[in-house]
Amino acid sequence: MKILVIGGGGREHALVWKIAQSPLVEKIYCAPGNPGIASLAECVNIAVDDLDELLRFSLEKGIGLTVVGPELPLTLGIVDRFQEAGLWIFGADRLAAQIEGSKSFSKDLMAKYGVPTAAYGTFTEYEPAVEFIRRNGAPIVVKADGLAAGKGVVVARTEEEAIAAVGSCLKEGAFGEAGSTVVIEEFLEGEEASFLAFTDGERVLPLASAQDHKPVFDGDQGPNTGGMGAYSPAPVVTSALHDRIVDEVMRPTIEGMAKEGRPFKGILYAGLMIKGEEIKVLEFNARFGDPEAQPLLMRMKSDLVPVLVACARGNLSGVTLEWHEKAAVCVVMASGGYPGSFQKGYAISGLDKAAEMEDVVVFHAGTAEKDGWIVNNGGRVLGVTAIGETVGAAIERVYRGVDAISWEGAHFRTDIGRKAMNR
Ligand code: AMP
Ligand code: GLY
Repeated sequence: MKILVIGGGGREHALVWKIAQSPLVEKIYCAPGNPGIASLAECVNIAVDDLDELLRFSLEKGIGLTVVGPELPLTLGIVDRFQEAGLWIFGADRLAAQIEGSKSFSKDLMAKYGVPTAAYGTFTEYEPAVEFIRRNGAPIVVKADGLAAGKGVVVARTEEEAIAAVGSCLKEGAFGEAGSTVVIEEFLEGEEASFLAFTDGERVLPLASAQDHKPVFDGDQGPNTGGMGAYSPAPVVTSALHDRIVDEVMRPTIEGMAKEGRPFKGILYAGLMIKGEEIKVLEFNARFGDPEAQPLLMRMKSDLVPVLVACARGNLSGVTLEWHEKAAVCVVMASGGYPGSFQKGYAISGLDKAAEMEDVVVFHAGTAEKDGWIVNNGGRVLGVTAIGETVGAAIERVYRGVDAISWEGAHFRTDIGRKAMNR
């Protein structure tokens, strides 16, 4: 089978890396891909939101399965387009992807179907939003309703900060249409975990647990990013909690989506806040996490391709997943200045040395090729990922890989996985 993967980040490199191991696969294309992906797949220069061109390419090449990495093409309806053309595609369709594309939609869905989440209000007008903040006090969380590339959430420590966030969305149009509605919600404390499950619209097939590290600096300091590192399994998700997450979060959400006439097929990602026995959903995503996909796919023993096909065809019955007992840790190396502005084009050294290390894989994200060098070309540049017998062993190994790699301004967190060690 010929497979097309859509996207060009670390998550898509991990998907291509895993798909390439399947005996069912004859050739992999990736649009647009990146220099790391280019060693495993043919990269084609089509943007992830150019649905016409992606469809034309897939029909021309006889693609047997398309796998969508990022949320944007999902919310634009790529799955609907491909299905109408008679092509198999893995991902949520346009109506289902609203679970990520609109936070007010997902909050209302959770409220209606009894899925635990923070108390909230939804606003399109400035004055009532400010009143809500004054009434509830700080800390409080302000979220742009639509897609904002991970920058639409402000965890406000003061009422003034929250009001400023509301103003930037509703008055200054900071996120355009995506910020013309805001969700304001209760601040939750606890430890975060990422819980992902494959689903065919009805059945739920959970993946192993994982944990992301969103803030840019060690000790969870500084502004949020797309994710500075991740590991799997996440011990905060005990086996009792795992079962409760399936029963109290994933199943009711999939059932609710079906009842709403929006059957969700693909991969559902719940961002959770866990405090003792209490589980609450922070957000849903309609796709694999990035960087969670990197450690998860390194730990996955089963062939991924039959699972993706089963979801696309809407029948996961009899499909199971096996995992390596080992732990996996991914450390993101980012450009100097990220998540703020940064300089691109610095040559990266040490990639060969890291690639030779046993049980270490360097997934590319924002890289490009220039004058025979791999250079940094985005905020998150590389996802160095390692497996080990224990989280501790994986941490030691992954940082040996990270230490081998450098470019001007590169930065990374030095404490990825430490929360797992503390347990
Ligand atoms: P979201 O995109 O909704 O997951 O929000 C991004 C990040 O903001 C989350 O990963 C949390 O770290 C933080 N966050 C979101 N909602 C809340 C909340 N209600 N309480 C505390 N932190 C939150
Ligand atoms: N790592 C967070 C996300 O993929 O949304």
